[in-house]
Amino acid sequence: MSRSNPVGVTLIRRAHPGDEEALGAIRRSSILGLSAPRVPADEAERWVGGAGAARIARAIREHSVWVAVQETAIGWIEVDQNRVTALYVAPEFSRRGVGSGLLCMAETSIQRAGHATARLLGSRNALDFYLHRGYLRSGPALSDGSHPMTKHFTRRRSPAARYLGFLRQALSSAKEQTSPG
Ligand SMILES: CC(C)(COP(=O)(O)OP(=O)(O)OC[C@H]1O[C@@H](n2cnc3c(N)ncnc32)[C@H](O)[C@@H]1OP(=O)(O)O)[C@@H](O)C(=O)NCCC(=O)NCCS
Repeated sequence: MSRSNPVGVTLIRRAHPGDEEALGAIRRSSILGLSAPRVPADEAERWVGGAGAARIARAIREHSVWVAVQETAIGWIEVDQNRVTALYVAPEFSRRGVGSGLLCMAETSIQRAGHATARLLGSRNALDFYLHRGYLRSGPALSDGSHPMTKHFTRRRSPAARYLGFLRQALSSAKEQTSPG
């Protein structure tokens, strides 16, 4: 425990140049530690090999990347427009809500940017995680077993819009009552 974070609270911050090595290590350990048994070991190794430090550095430069931190980085997420293109949590911090918190952050930013849907490619091991968070399969599985998935955001109407709707409804039922049959 440290004085800066005495109760082990998870903070979320934007990634910055220099984070790529730590984020790469989380990516590697989360794939190797959390994707079994749905993803066979050889496939997991190929998945790990699919993105190195250069790919993560580009993500930090060109996209929105957030890092969950408890003293050190413990998870991260990448958003490109309305697509969630990476989400990894270190195995020793999994099943504590870190992945959900990062996803929530990503969805808020996607919604604030004006998108009505979020999209991602859900890997076999993470399908249930996304299904439990409102994502639906939106296409056939790819050859590696991953699924295109989409979440439609339900737009909450402002109080003013709700009041206008109420007035319209009241007016139309008043007209119905006064117009001749
Ligand atoms: C998928 C992944 C990001 C989930 O991260 P996570 O931090 O474990 O996610 P959460 O803790 O928010 O939720 C996971 C489960 O733990 C449960 N959980 C959350 N907090 C919990 C707690 N305090 N105690 C016990 N269980 C808890 C949740 O209910 C959830 O279960 P559900 O999906 O059945 O609802 C992580 O497993 C991972 O990095 N996997 C490997 C890489 C990967 O597949 N990434 C996705 C690529 S598409």
